[in-house]
Amino acid sequence: MRFFVDTADVAVIADLAATGLLDGVTTNPSLVAKVGRDFKTVVREICEVVPGPVSAEVAATDYDGMVAEGRVLAAIAKNVCVKVPLTWDGLKACRTLTTEGFMVNVTLCFSASQALLAAKAGATFVSPFIGRLDDIGLDGMELVREIRAIYDNYAELTTDILAASIRTVNHVKQAAMIGADVVTVPPAILQALVKHPLTDQGLRQFVADWEKTGQTIL
Ligand code: G3P
Repeated sequence: MRFFVDTADVAVIADLAATGLLDGVTTNPSLVAKVGRDFKTVVREICEVVPGPVSAEVAATDYDGMVAEGRVLAAIAKNVCVKVPLTWDGLKACRTLTTEGFMVNVTLCFSASQALLAAKAGATFVSPFIGRLDDIGLDGMELVREIRAIYDNYAELTTDILAASIRTVNHVKQAAMIGADVVTVPPAILQALVKHPLTDQGLRQFVADWEKTGQTIL
């Protein structure tokens, strides 16, 4: 399973990239607004830090605008993945941009039928939004399960499932158990994945016992 981080904060991304655990990055207009910096500069900087796919979302909502913006974004770096919304125009733009050889992430996916269309449109990634479905009392993880089942039925559907809108450590575990290809995780959740009180307690004990031996390894 590949791990992407869901942020436009270059310093945070650089820190996480240094762990060697980061396979890519996703951004969206809200995350870009949050950092308050020039979008294309931010995308360029992220692409220099992380060699894997870096999702950069178009602002236009019409086909021509999305394709034009997608080409500009894709020209920033080889690892830019153009992000388009799951609309008819977005699906058409997806088909055009993937035919031109660009990676495309079809975002704002809230149903299995939408995910089927994204795959038919040649999407590199489809992003089902787990947390936002949970927010309205539905089961976001059930959507990932449905998409996995559908894609597994047809060898020609090669789109990767990118589980997005991840809010908890448990979401990451469940997405992995279902077989999502990628999970995009907010930095705090990514860091929380390593935490377990028994690990901390056990390590304290090992350090204390080692000191009692009076030995050194180096
Ligand atoms: O990048 C898209 C997605 O991960 C957004 O998450 O928490 O705003 O629903 P959230």
